[in-house]
Amino acid sequence: MQSEIAPTISAELRQRFASASRVVVLTGAGVSAESGVPTFRGGGNTSVWKGMPFDVISSGQMLERDLPAVWEWFDYRRELMQSVKPNPAHVAIANWQRRFPELTVVTQNIDGLHQKAGSRGVIELHGNIWRARCVTCEMTIDLTEHRRNACVGCGDNLRPDVVLFGEMLPPGAYERAATAASTCELCFVVGTSALVYPAANIPAIAKMGSGYVVEINPEKTPLSSFCDEVLSGKAGDILPVLGDDV
Ligand code: OAD
Repeated sequence: MQSEIAPTISAELRQRFASASRVVVLTGAGVSAESGVPTFRGGGNTSVWKGMPFDVISSGQMLERDLPAVWEWFDYRRELMQSVKPNPAHVAIANWQRRFPELTVVTQNIDGLHQKAGSRGVIELHGNIWRARCVTCEMTIDLTEHRRNACVGCGDNLRPDVVLFGEMLPPGAYERAATAASTCELCFVVGTSALVYPAANIPAIAKMGSGYVVEINPEKTPLSSFCDEVLSGKAGDILPVLGDDV
């Protein structure tokens, strides 16, 4: 594996990897693909639900119109994620905490797999499927421990604690990610189609600072030509061996 991958890693990246302190990793659905979580735009099972595209059923408008339907969709997705485990890409990123003094993991994923692999302080731009939140008082509950009945705080309905289309990101999440990106030396963009904003701004913010931006993805994305380096392949193959020889 190493010999297949090593030639694609530039001397610049090796040098940066060996010396960087501040590193940002932005992840998308592709980092969990090898765990068996379908991506959004890869034609997987989750791209359409009962004839509705995911951006319709996963929308703020749908929540207003039909909260039970939104729950049905997220219950289905939680069911799919019930048995999935972190893969070598999640584990490699968690291990980088020991390597880089300031590692910031920013994810668009709601599956919680970075945390399961041991990553701490993960910035979840799109929320977490294992949490519910009251529509009124915003109290959250952990769905791995509690059933989703009415809010115990105020009695109102609970909703999935995820960002739906047309909704704002969790307060402060993007700002923290942008701050880390603006001062990082290395920015890895792993398994995202880089089509959804504002998450897709993070690599540009990194580059505007002094960040060297590296994409890891088996496919080309709108970001590929902008990146300093593209490592074409699966995250679970590339990330675990990235720092082996530096
Ligand atoms: P996408 O489904 O748009 O893109 C997944 C990316 O992962 C694609 O570029 C694939 O080529 C790549 N990929 C697939 N397998 C991979 C692997 N083994 N290793 C590395 N990369 C791989 O998912 P996101 O970019 O995460 O938002 O989508 C962004 C947001 O769009 C999601 O967070 C979600 C969705 O709407 C909300 O729900 C708010």
